[in-house]
Amino acid sequence: MSTTGELVRRIVQAFMIGDASSFRTAAEEYIAEERRKNHHVLARDIEKLLLNGASTTASARTLALIGTQSSDLPRDKERGTVLVEIIEPKRTLESLVLAEGIRNTLSAVIHENRHADVLRSYGLRPASKILFCGPPGCGKTVAAEGVAQALYLPLVLVRFDAIVSSYLGETAANLRKVFDFVRTRPMVALFDEFDAIGKSRTAEEEHGELKRVVNSFLQMLDRFRGETLLIAATNHQGLLDSALWRRFDEILFFDRPDTEAIREILVRNTTQLGLEQGTDLERLSRGLCGMSHADIERIALDATKASILMNRHPIEAEALIASAENQRRRVSLTDNMTSKSEQHASQLPTHDQRGTCLDEVRSP
Ligand SMILES: Nc1ncnc2c1ncn2[C@@H]1O[C@H](COP(=O)(O)OP(=O)(O)OP(=O)(O)O)[C@@H](O)[C@H]1O
Ligand SMILES: [Mg+2]
Repeated sequence: MSTTGELVRRIVQAFMIGDASSFRTAAEEYIAEERRKNHHVLARDIEKLLLNGASTTASARTLALIGTQSSDLPRDKERGTVLVEIIEPKRTLESLVLAEGIRNTLSAVIHENRHADVLRSYGLRPASKILFCGPPGCGKTVAAEGVAQALYLPLVLVRFDAIVSSYLGETAANLRKVFDFVRTRPMVALFDEFDAIGKSRTAEEEHGELKRVVNSFLQMLDRFRGETLLIAATNHQGLLDSALWRRFDEILFFDRPDTEAIREILVRNTTQLGLEQGTDLERLSRGLCGMSHADIERIALDATKASILMNRHPIEAEALIASAENQRRRVSLTDNMTSKSEQHASQLPTHDQRGTCLDEVRSP
């Protein structure tokens, strides 16, 4: 029988190397141990966490999606961390509010990939290297999920935070392992925020490191000839050398939603309670201009929650305005806190402009 300390060590180790089966075994032993000590509440709590987590962790189910075993996943040599995350795509492109140009391009990419064999028989290859850019929260990640779903392929999220190693040469080695892995079978591989690296480095070091990582990445991308659809996503497109654009078959810019799209996101996310009759959605949407899809979604969901708790059905315009003001406050807080958001803030309407938009909604 293992001691508690030994069990905790096994749990942490299994978690670090992404070994779901050993993690579960050790956690179950730990629960049994706590029960033996008559710590029933703690044992039940941990058991519950384990049960809930079972549906969300990369377990046997997600590994089966890709026909692989945990031990075949690419890992960082020093830390043992898994470099990719396998996701079963659930969101569909139809469920997203997309600009017409983006929807059409994605449909064409999907069409080419569905008929890749025909194209290959003519010596052609389908569009398979795509760059998604644009500000945070505007749908790059969910669009990649939608593409994977449309192609009935698993989505493999490449974790750049895990790829970048402090050991010389290890970053490029990790990238190579990832490319070797995604070549093994068709999938949609999302190299999400591929330009985002350790925030602890100084700006100068970060810039040098970033250039190195991005360059190795783009070289491997260039040489890639597998059947996997590669999508790279960034919200720092301004940092990338424009000569690199030609390496991609398609480049899509996911912009913040226009008034019509804002209106659509509000409607889609308030269907549970509905909106009070006579709500001037047009005006309200104008007042939210400059926010991201994620911001608008949050506003609609917050207003829904507040209305449920106040027992006010359907949702009143005032509840949406209050949620919008809260969200605006959160956005400017985050803008101040993260350097990543500096660029985001400069592209958004100023605080005053956004405030005026909402005031305009309030006084008809
Ligand atoms: N076009 C869209 N239609 C509907 N909902 C959207 C859309 N874009 C984003 N959302 C909502 O906003 C959330 C965040 O979107 P997502 O993670 O795709 O943004 P992102 O562009 O990848 O941001 P980041 O640059 O921070 O990674 C999603 O979970 C989704 O619910
Ligand atoms: Mg994303």
